[in-house]
Amino acid sequence: MGKHIEVVGGSSVYMGSAKELLEKILPNKRVIVISDANIDRTHRDLIAPYEHILIGLGEQVKSFATLEEVYRQLINMGADRSVFILGVGGGIVTDIAGFVASTYMRGVEFGFITTTLLGSVDASVGGKNGVNVGGFKNMVGVFSQPKFVICDTSLLHSLSDREFKAGMAEVIKTAILGDAELFEILEKTSFKELRKDDSLLEDIITRAVAVKAAVVAEDEREKGRRRILNLGHTMAHAIEKSTSKMNHGEAVAVGLYYITQSALSQQILSEEDAGRIFDLIEQYGFNTTLPVERKQILKAIEGDKKRSGDALHLILPSAIGSVTDRLLTFEELKSIL
Ligand code: GLY
Repeated sequence: MGKHIEVVGGSSVYMGSAKELLEKILPNKRVIVISDANIDRTHRDLIAPYEHILIGLGEQVKSFATLEEVYRQLINMGADRSVFILGVGGGIVTDIAGFVASTYMRGVEFGFITTTLLGSVDASVGGKNGVNVGGFKNMVGVFSQPKFVICDTSLLHSLSDREFKAGMAEVIKTAILGDAELFEILEKTSFKELRKDDSLLEDIITRAVAVKAAVVAEDEREKGRRRILNLGHTMAHAIEKSTSKMNHGEAVAVGLYYITQSALSQQILSEEDAGRIFDLIEQYGFNTTLPVERKQILKAIEGDKKRSGDALHLILPSAIGSVTDRLLTFEELKSIL
Protein backbone atom coordinates (compact mmCIF):
# COMPACT_ATOMS: atom_id res chain seq x y z
CA MET A 1 0.00 0.00 0.00
CA GLY A 2 2.27 2.74 -1.27
CA LYS A 3 5.58 3.56 0.30
CA HIS A 4 5.64 2.98 4.03
CA ILE A 5 8.12 2.50 6.84
CA GLU A 6 7.41 0.29 9.82
CA VAL A 7 8.22 1.80 13.18
CA VAL A 8 7.58 -0.28 16.35
CA GLY A 9 4.44 -1.56 18.02
CA GLY A 10 2.62 -2.06 14.71
CA SER A 11 2.97 1.60 13.78
CA SER A 12 3.69 2.64 10.17
CA VAL A 13 4.59 5.89 8.45
CA TYR A 14 2.90 6.14 5.03
CA MET A 15 4.08 8.45 2.27
CA GLY A 16 1.48 9.70 -0.22
CA SER A 17 -1.84 11.44 -0.68
CA ALA A 18 -3.51 11.86 2.72
CA LYS A 19 -7.03 11.59 1.30
CA GLU A 20 -6.32 8.39 -0.62
CA LEU A 21 -4.45 6.81 2.25
CA LEU A 22 -7.16 7.67 4.78
CA GLU A 23 -9.71 5.78 2.70
CA LYS A 24 -7.58 2.68 2.94
CA ILE A 25 -6.21 2.76 6.46
CA LEU A 26 -8.72 4.56 8.69
CA PRO A 27 -10.45 1.93 10.82
CA ASN A 28 -14.19 1.65 10.47
CA LYS A 29 -14.92 3.57 13.67
CA ARG A 30 -16.20 6.94 14.84
CA VAL A 31 -13.34 9.33 13.99
CA ILE A 32 -12.69 12.50 15.98
CA VAL A 33 -10.06 14.86 14.61
CA ILE A 34 -7.85 16.99 16.86
CA SER A 35 -6.33 19.89 14.93
CA ASP A 36 -5.83 23.66 15.14
CA ALA A 37 -7.18 26.87 13.63
CA ASN A 38 -4.34 27.13 11.10
CA ILE A 39 -5.11 23.70 9.67
CA ASP A 40 -8.80 24.54 9.67
CA ARG A 41 -7.90 27.47 7.40
CA THR A 42 -5.25 25.87 5.17
CA HIS A 43 -6.47 22.25 4.90
CA ARG A 44 -10.15 22.43 5.80
CA ASP A 45 -11.06 19.80 3.18
CA LEU A 46 -9.03 17.25 5.16
CA ILE A 47 -10.76 17.69 8.50
CA ALA A 48 -14.24 18.86 7.43
CA PRO A 49 -15.62 15.33 6.86
CA TYR A 50 -15.03 14.46 10.52
CA GLU A 51 -16.16 15.72 13.91
CA HIS A 52 -13.30 17.85 15.14
CA ILE A 53 -11.79 19.64 18.12
CA LEU A 54 -9.51 22.61 17.45
CA ILE A 55 -6.78 23.57 19.91
CA GLY A 56 -4.92 26.90 20.11
CA LEU A 57 -1.61 27.85 18.50
CA GLY A 58 1.91 28.11 19.88
CA GLU A 59 4.12 26.24 22.33
CA GLN A 60 2.13 27.48 25.38
CA VAL A 61 -0.74 25.30 24.15
CA LYS A 62 1.22 22.21 25.23
CA SER A 63 -0.25 22.43 28.71
CA PHE A 64 -2.51 20.65 31.19
CA ALA A 65 -5.14 23.32 30.52
CA THR A 66 -5.34 22.25 26.86
CA LEU A 67 -5.53 18.57 27.80
CA GLU A 68 -8.40 19.22 30.19
CA GLU A 69 -10.25 21.27 27.59
CA VAL A 70 -9.93 18.48 25.01
CA TYR A 71 -11.00 15.75 27.49
CA ARG A 72 -14.06 17.84 28.39
CA GLN A 73 -14.99 18.25 24.73
CA LEU A 74 -14.63 14.51 24.15
CA ILE A 75 -16.93 13.83 27.11
CA ASN A 76 -19.45 16.37 25.80
CA MET A 77 -19.37 14.68 22.41
CA GLY A 78 -20.13 11.37 24.08
CA ALA A 79 -16.87 9.83 22.89
CA ASP A 80 -16.36 6.32 24.28
CA ARG A 81 -13.48 3.87 24.10
CA SER A 82 -14.31 2.86 20.56
CA VAL A 83 -13.46 6.24 18.98
CA PHE A 84 -10.44 6.76 16.77
CA ILE A 85 -8.53 10.02 17.35
CA LEU A 86 -6.92 11.50 14.25
CA GLY A 87 -4.37 14.24 15.00
CA VAL A 88 -3.96 16.54 11.99
CA GLY A 89 -1.21 19.13 12.31
CA GLY A 90 2.36 19.82 13.37
CA GLY A 91 4.25 18.68 16.44
CA ILE A 92 2.09 20.54 18.95
CA VAL A 93 -1.13 19.03 17.64
CA THR A 94 0.30 15.51 17.40
CA ASP A 95 1.77 15.75 20.92
CA ILE A 96 -1.59 16.79 22.37
CA ALA A 97 -3.60 14.35 20.24
CA GLY A 98 -1.22 11.47 21.09
CA PHE A 99 -1.33 12.22 24.81
CA VAL A 100 -5.10 12.68 24.89
CA ALA A 101 -5.69 9.46 22.92
CA SER A 102 -3.29 7.50 25.12
CA THR A 103 -5.01 8.59 28.33
CA TYR A 104 -8.69 9.27 27.53
CA MET A 105 -10.62 6.37 29.07
CA ARG A 106 -7.21 4.73 29.60
CA GLY A 107 -6.42 4.86 25.93
CA VAL A 108 -8.11 4.84 22.53
CA GLU A 109 -6.65 4.16 19.07
CA PHE A 110 -5.08 7.05 17.21
CA GLY A 111 -3.19 8.10 14.09
CA PHE A 112 -1.70 11.27 12.64
CA ILE A 113 -1.56 13.30 9.47
CA THR A 114 1.53 15.41 9.80
CA THR A 115 1.41 18.84 8.18
CA THR A 116 4.89 20.20 8.93
CA LEU A 117 8.32 19.01 7.84
CA LEU A 118 9.45 19.00 11.48
CA GLY A 119 6.51 16.77 12.38
CA SER A 120 7.11 14.47 9.42
CA VAL A 121 10.74 13.73 10.20
CA ASP A 122 10.67 13.89 13.98
CA ALA A 123 7.79 14.91 16.22
CA SER A 124 5.06 12.60 14.89
CA VAL A 125 7.30 9.53 14.53
CA GLY A 126 8.38 7.29 17.38
CA GLY A 127 5.51 7.52 19.83
CA LYS A 128 6.70 10.26 22.19
CA ASN A 129 4.19 12.85 23.27
CA GLY A 130 3.97 15.29 26.13
CA VAL A 131 3.15 18.66 27.58
CA ASN A 132 5.34 21.34 29.16
CA VAL A 133 5.33 22.04 32.89
CA GLY A 134 6.86 25.03 34.68
CA GLY A 135 8.85 26.11 31.65
CA PHE A 136 10.32 22.63 31.13
CA LYS A 137 9.59 21.07 27.78
CA ASN A 138 7.82 17.71 27.53
CA MET A 139 8.02 17.02 31.27
CA VAL A 140 4.87 14.90 31.34
CA GLY A 141 3.87 12.48 28.63
CA VAL A 142 3.88 8.85 27.59
CA PHE A 143 5.46 6.61 24.99
CA SER A 144 2.58 5.41 22.85
CA GLN A 145 2.74 4.53 19.17
CA PRO A 146 0.12 5.83 16.73
CA LYS A 147 -1.45 3.20 14.43
CA PHE A 148 -0.20 5.24 11.52
CA VAL A 149 1.41 8.50 10.51
CA ILE A 150 0.58 9.91 7.08
CA CYS A 151 3.11 12.15 5.45
CA ASP A 152 1.77 13.91 2.35
CA THR A 153 4.36 16.26 0.85
CA SER A 154 1.67 18.28 -0.95
CA LEU A 155 0.48 19.46 2.49
CA LEU A 156 3.91 21.00 3.10
CA HIS A 157 3.49 23.54 0.27
CA SER A 158 1.58 25.90 2.56
CA LEU A 159 4.46 26.10 5.05
CA SER A 160 6.42 29.35 5.14
CA ASP A 161 10.11 29.11 4.21
CA ARG A 162 10.92 29.67 7.87
CA GLU A 163 8.79 26.73 9.04
CA PHE A 164 10.12 24.50 6.27
CA LYS A 165 13.68 25.40 7.18
CA ALA A 166 12.97 24.48 10.81
CA GLY A 167 12.20 20.96 9.62
CA MET A 168 15.41 20.88 7.58
CA ALA A 169 17.41 21.30 10.80
CA GLU A 170 16.04 17.95 12.02
CA VAL A 171 16.76 16.38 8.62
CA ILE A 172 20.38 17.61 8.80
CA LYS A 173 20.59 16.30 12.39
CA THR A 174 19.35 12.89 11.26
CA ALA A 175 21.85 12.75 8.39
CA ILE A 176 24.73 13.61 10.73
CA LEU A 177 23.79 10.97 13.27
CA GLY A 178 22.87 8.11 11.03
CA ASP A 179 22.89 8.47 7.24
CA ALA A 180 26.02 9.62 5.39
CA GLU A 181 24.26 9.13 2.03
CA LEU A 182 21.40 11.41 3.08
CA PHE A 183 24.05 13.96 4.08
CA GLU A 184 25.54 13.77 0.55
CA ILE A 185 22.09 14.17 -1.05
CA LEU A 186 21.53 17.28 1.08
CA GLU A 187 24.91 18.66 0.03
CA LYS A 188 23.89 18.30 -3.62
CA THR A 189 20.44 19.83 -3.12
CA SER A 190 19.35 23.40 -2.61
CA PHE A 191 16.61 24.69 -0.33
CA LYS A 192 14.77 26.06 -3.39
CA GLU A 193 14.83 22.69 -5.15
CA LEU A 194 13.37 20.97 -2.10
CA ARG A 195 10.52 23.45 -1.95
CA LYS A 196 9.63 22.61 -5.56
CA ASP A 197 10.45 18.95 -6.03
CA ASP A 198 8.00 16.78 -4.08
CA SER A 199 9.52 13.48 -5.11
CA LEU A 200 13.00 14.55 -3.97
CA LEU A 201 11.48 15.80 -0.71
CA GLU A 202 9.61 12.52 -0.27
CA ASP A 203 12.88 10.57 -0.70
CA ILE A 204 14.61 12.75 1.87
CA ILE A 205 11.78 12.42 4.40
CA THR A 206 11.64 8.65 3.83
CA ARG A 207 15.36 8.33 4.55
CA ALA A 208 15.13 10.50 7.68
CA VAL A 209 12.12 8.54 8.97
CA ALA A 210 13.93 5.24 8.29
CA VAL A 211 16.88 6.36 10.43
CA LYS A 212 14.56 7.40 13.25
CA ALA A 213 12.50 4.19 12.99
CA ALA A 214 15.66 2.06 13.25
CA VAL A 215 16.84 3.92 16.35
CA VAL A 216 13.41 3.75 17.99
CA ALA A 217 13.17 0.02 17.22
CA GLU A 218 16.35 -0.53 19.23
CA ASP A 219 15.30 1.57 22.20
CA GLU A 220 11.67 2.69 22.17
CA ARG A 221 11.72 4.08 25.73
CA GLU A 222 14.98 6.00 25.53
CA LYS A 223 17.03 3.98 27.96
CA GLY A 224 20.15 4.51 25.87
CA ARG A 225 20.49 4.44 22.09
CA ARG A 226 17.47 6.69 21.40
CA ARG A 227 19.33 9.54 23.12
CA ILE A 228 21.34 10.00 19.91
CA LEU A 229 18.21 11.61 18.42
CA ASN A 230 18.84 14.47 20.83
CA LEU A 231 21.98 15.53 18.96
CA GLY A 232 22.27 19.31 19.34
CA HIS A 233 19.17 19.45 21.55
CA THR A 234 20.74 20.28 24.95
CA MET A 235 21.79 23.60 23.50
CA ALA A 236 18.59 23.97 21.47
CA HIS A 237 16.36 23.54 24.52
CA ALA A 238 18.49 26.03 26.46
CA ILE A 239 18.09 28.56 23.65
CA GLU A 240 14.34 28.00 23.46
CA LYS A 241 14.09 28.44 27.23
CA SER A 242 16.02 31.71 27.11
CA THR A 243 14.37 33.42 24.16
CA SER A 244 11.47 33.16 21.75
CA LYS A 245 13.54 34.68 18.92
CA MET A 246 14.31 31.25 17.48
CA ASN A 247 11.96 28.42 16.64
CA HIS A 248 12.89 24.83 17.51
CA GLY A 249 14.62 24.05 14.21
CA GLU A 250 16.62 27.28 14.23
CA ALA A 251 17.76 26.49 17.78
CA VAL A 252 18.67 22.92 16.74
CA ALA A 253 20.86 24.31 13.94
CA VAL A 254 22.79 26.41 16.49
CA GLY A 255 23.02 23.32 18.72
CA LEU A 256 24.43 21.27 15.82
CA TYR A 257 26.98 23.96 15.09
CA TYR A 258 28.27 24.09 18.68
CA ILE A 259 28.26 20.36 19.18
CA THR A 260 30.30 19.95 15.99
CA GLN A 261 32.69 22.64 17.19
CA SER A 262 33.13 20.81 20.47
CA ALA A 263 33.60 17.39 18.79
CA LEU A 264 36.28 19.02 16.66
CA SER A 265 38.09 20.59 19.60
CA GLN A 266 37.97 17.29 21.52
CA GLN A 267 39.42 15.57 18.42
CA ILE A 268 36.45 13.25 18.16
CA LEU A 269 35.64 14.54 14.68
CA SER A 270 38.00 15.23 11.74
CA GLU A 271 38.45 18.75 10.42
CA GLU A 272 37.13 17.63 7.05
CA ASP A 273 33.86 16.24 8.44
CA ALA A 274 33.37 19.20 10.76
CA GLY A 275 33.88 21.51 7.76
CA ARG A 276 31.22 19.63 5.80
CA ILE A 277 28.74 19.97 8.69
CA PHE A 278 29.44 23.70 9.06
CA ASP A 279 29.02 24.15 5.30
CA LEU A 280 25.72 22.26 5.19
CA ILE A 281 24.28 24.31 8.06
CA GLU A 282 25.26 27.44 6.15
CA GLN A 283 23.99 26.09 2.81
CA TYR A 284 20.48 25.80 4.27
CA GLY A 285 20.65 29.38 5.51
CA PHE A 286 20.85 28.91 9.27
CA ASN A 287 22.15 31.65 11.52
CA THR A 288 24.54 30.16 14.07
CA THR A 289 25.09 33.26 16.18
CA LEU A 290 23.81 32.78 19.73
CA PRO A 291 20.55 34.74 20.03
CA VAL A 292 21.22 35.49 23.73
CA GLU A 293 24.33 35.80 25.88
CA ARG A 294 26.35 32.65 26.54
CA LYS A 295 25.80 32.96 30.29
CA GLN A 296 22.03 32.77 29.83
CA ILE A 297 22.41 29.57 27.83
CA LEU A 298 24.68 28.08 30.49
CA LYS A 299 22.16 28.98 33.19
CA ALA A 300 19.39 27.23 31.26
CA ILE A 301 21.57 24.15 30.72
CA GLU A 302 22.42 24.12 34.42
CA GLY A 303 18.68 24.20 35.22
CA ASP A 304 18.21 21.22 32.93
CA LYS A 305 21.12 19.40 34.50
CA LYS A 306 19.54 19.73 37.96
CA ARG A 307 16.70 17.60 36.68
CA SER A 308 18.84 14.85 35.29
CA GLY A 309 21.53 14.46 37.96
CA ASP A 310 25.16 15.49 37.97
CA ALA A 311 26.45 14.19 34.69
CA LEU A 312 25.34 15.54 31.36
CA HIS A 313 24.94 13.14 28.49
CA LEU A 314 26.12 14.83 25.37
CA ILE A 315 25.92 13.30 21.91
CA LEU A 316 28.78 14.32 19.66
CA PRO A 317 29.32 13.63 15.96
CA SER A 318 32.27 11.28 15.37
CA ALA A 319 31.99 11.19 11.56
CA ILE A 320 29.35 12.04 8.98
CA GLY A 321 26.69 9.42 9.74
CA SER A 322 27.75 8.44 13.25
CA VAL A 323 27.82 9.81 16.77
CA THR A 324 29.26 9.00 20.15
CA ASP A 325 27.95 9.49 23.67
CA ARG A 326 30.01 11.48 26.21
CA LEU A 327 29.33 12.03 29.87
CA LEU A 328 30.40 15.59 30.71
CA THR A 329 30.46 17.54 33.93
CA PHE A 330 28.95 21.01 33.80
CA GLU A 331 32.46 22.51 34.14
CA GLU A 332 33.63 20.57 31.08
CA LEU A 333 30.62 21.73 29.16
CA LYS A 334 31.32 25.35 30.10
CA SER A 335 34.82 25.10 28.69
CA ILE A 336 33.65 23.93 25.29
CA LEU A 337 30.77 26.32 24.74
N1 GLY B 1 12.71 13.76 19.14
C1 GLY B 1 13.53 12.79 19.73
C2 GLY B 1 12.89 11.46 19.90
O1 GLY B 1 11.82 11.23 19.37
O2 GLY B 1 13.44 10.63 20.59
